Amino acid sequence: MEIIENSKLTVVGAGSVGSSVAYAALIRGSARHIALYDVATEKVEAEVLDLAHGTQFTGSSDIVGGSDISVAAGSHVVVITAGAKQKPGQTRTELAEVNAGIIRSMMPQLLEVAPHAVYVIVTNPCDVLTVIAQEVSGLPPERVFASGTVLDTSRLRWKLAERAGVSTGSVHAHIVGEHGDTEFPLWSRATIGTVPILDWQVPGHPRLTREELDAIAIDVRDAAYKVIRGKGATNYAIGLSSARIVEAILRDEHAVMPVSTVLHDFHGVDGVALSVPSIVSATGAVPIRNTSFSAEELDLLHRSATALEGVRATLGA
Ligand code: LAC
Repeated sequence: MEIIENSKLTVVGAGSVGSSVAYAALIRGSARHIALYDVATEKVEAEVLDLAHGTQFTGSSDIVGGSDISVAAGSHVVVITAGAKQKPGQTRTELAEVNAGIIRSMMPQLLEVAPHAVYVIVTNPCDVLTVIAQEVSGLPPERVFASGTVLDTSRLRWKLAERAGVSTGSVHAHIVGEHGDTEFPLWSRATIGTVPILDWQVPGHPRLTREELDAIAIDVRDAAYKVIRGKGATNYAIGLSSARIVEAILRDEHAVMPVSTVLHDFHGVDGVALSVPSIVSATGAVPIRNTSFSAEELDLLHRSATALEGVRATLGA
């Protein structure tokens, strides 16, 4: 894919997620210049070295990094992954307190060196932390948003594609709401190709039942718990999802993606960040206001918003 000349991505956090974001961006050629920042000097320098050692085999992106915040200078996009990660069985919202502190301290420092960047929050709970980041930074909602349910939507499309016998790109379905336990699929508008999802059938791939769809939605919602139980963290898919979001920004794609922005007067949701289909471009992310929801989906959207408001309320001003 075409690299935007002089485009710069900074990834904050050199843990398994941050280094996977950098690795995915390097392989995909998401940005010309990639910087990795972390306060842990030895760790971040080792990750940068390990990534740089492979650049003969990647595109023309270059990778630098270190523990001095100046490595982020002039970034067009900053992806924030720093923070505590889920332990087996732990929910994302249990990380809110400690990770909100990291966001509150990081945002002012980053804005000093990258005042014009679009900020993408990956650290969990990413929706609530987006509200904090937007409050602390004073940036307009479109310029600071979370990866949200882009990853969950990818998980959904993978499951559906396998069941329906088609490519993932032919599955047009979204997970929306919290990136977490109250997320839900927008079945009312889901299609495979142009066929409504419950009407899809091809030889060897019979119609999907509503019960099957519900089971797939639960699998997707709980996917991270399963991966974390098995390997201690998730990193590859969130790395790829984040790199894809970065590309939509740097290439000014105006791509529709379910990212999480602070919503205002959106189908009864106000002042809460959660994922809905949004247009992602060089200016950031703008929710698509005329997204349609069935009565059941609207109820689920409000439940997700209420759950997230409850978490935000525990974090104080
Ligand atoms: C997951 C993490 C990124 O869903 O929240 O894998």
